[in-house]
Amino acid sequence: MTAGTGSAVGPPAPDEPPTTSAARDRPADRPFVVLGVAAGIAAYKAVEVCRRLVDAGVHVAPVMTERATRFVGRATFDALASEPVHLELWDDLSAIPHTRLGQRADAVVVAPATADLLARYAAGMADDLLTATLLATRAPVVVCPAMHTEMWEHPSVRHNLEVLGGRGVVVVPPETGRLAGGDEGAGRLAATEVIVDAVLGVLAGAGGSAGVAHGAGGSAGDLAGLGVLVSAGGTREPIDPVRYLTNRSSGKQGHALAEAAWRRGAEVTLVTTTDRPVPAGITRVRVDTAEEMAGAMLARADRADVIVMAAAVADFRPAAVSGSKLHKADGVPVLELEPTVDILAELGRRRRPGQVLVGFAAETDGVAERAAAKLAAKGVDLMVANDVSLPGVGFDHDTNAVTVLGADGSVVDIGLRPKPAVADAVFDRVAILVRRR
Ligand code: CTP
Repeated sequence: MTAGTGSAVGPPAPDEPPTTSAARDRPADRPFVVLGVAAGIAAYKAVEVCRRLVDAGVHVAPVMTERATRFVGRATFDALASEPVHLELWDDLSAIPHTRLGQRADAVVVAPATADLLARYAAGMADDLLTATLLATRAPVVVCPAMHTEMWEHPSVRHNLEVLGGRGVVVVPPETGRLAGGDEGAGRLAATEVIVDAVLGVLAGAGGSAGVAHGAGGSAGDLAGLGVLVSAGGTREPIDPVRYLTNRSSGKQGHALAEAAWRRGAEVTLVTTTDRPVPAGITRVRVDTAEEMAGAMLARADRADVIVMAAAVADFRPAAVSGSKLHKADGVPVLELEPTVDILAELGRRRRPGQVLVGFAAETDGVAERAAAKLAAKGVDLMVANDVSLPGVGFDHDTNAVTVLGADGSVVDIGLRPKPAVADAVFDRVAILVRRR
């Protein structure tokens, strides 16, 4: 879907004359989108988002936080949006706007979403019109975070995004680039067309992540034009309807890899066992078991230029799954296990010429030797090894430290850093291999 064409939602309609929100009803012929603007330097970019949505035939109702008006004047939105800015919980009391806007909306998009706004939304606060609208709506919500890198990488911001993602909120992650104050890093509001595509995607009923087709993370990125297939999370192997065998993988590193590839312009498919948020634009395939993951990965492998197996796949599963809950009274069950398919080894066997294959090895001892042995045995180009017995490394941490071993004999140490930064360092290695082919 291309931003600004209006193809998803019909031709532009003339703006309505300015009236009070109480007097307006939901436009019958156009989707109604609440555009929330929080207090960040990127608020000026929301003006362009507003204009593009209006051009695409959307009725845009802007809601600014009081502090957002310090970054961009409400008169700008008043002029460009489909109705005047809504600002205060106390405006227009007769229409009960704090619930009315959310109820009327077909979608709510917040751009920029600051760390503060995300925290208040995740906590269920409703202390201004924007958070009240977010709480009152049952429509799809798209949040577009923008903040300094340190804040973006802070565990509390990550946690709030996970909470929101778990509730079905679509997250359009920020780009890496120049930030306010001249710093470089992740945190810059996503490009206007990415945001507009995400909104048109949810309006088209595609449910967010699956609905926006192209890898819009950066069409000029170094992975532009490549298909990247990533697996993430720990598989779950059922014992009975209420129990399963699993491992400590959180999926954070795998999701960070998918996001990094997407930001760098790739068409990304993420096969994951978790419900973590993914950017609109990444195709998510949700699986549970090793068998499901094998099916999802092998079915898509042929089309991929790069495959990254970051998932922690169970090596064994119960040979028989009880159809009903096992009870203590029946005695201690004896679990017979059988091996699962080694997906990475199978991908190595089937790999087509030019395809880049990356594996992960989480170890607690003999890290380099074990990882090197797996690299050779599974026929991969890169093996990303980490020692999960070290503090801050591996499972469920927000940081990681890895060594990337290459089939060409290269060894690159990537010291302790946030998982998104590790993901970029891994794709730096991948990009070199892609260029060589
Ligand atoms: N892997 C896989 N399918 C499996 C097991 C592992 O695709 N059934 C992949 C993982 O996604 C990872 C790599 O193989 O990329 C190494 O996984 P790891 O668990 O470290 O190694 P194993 O081969 O399972 O060996 P072991 O558990 O004995 O260390």
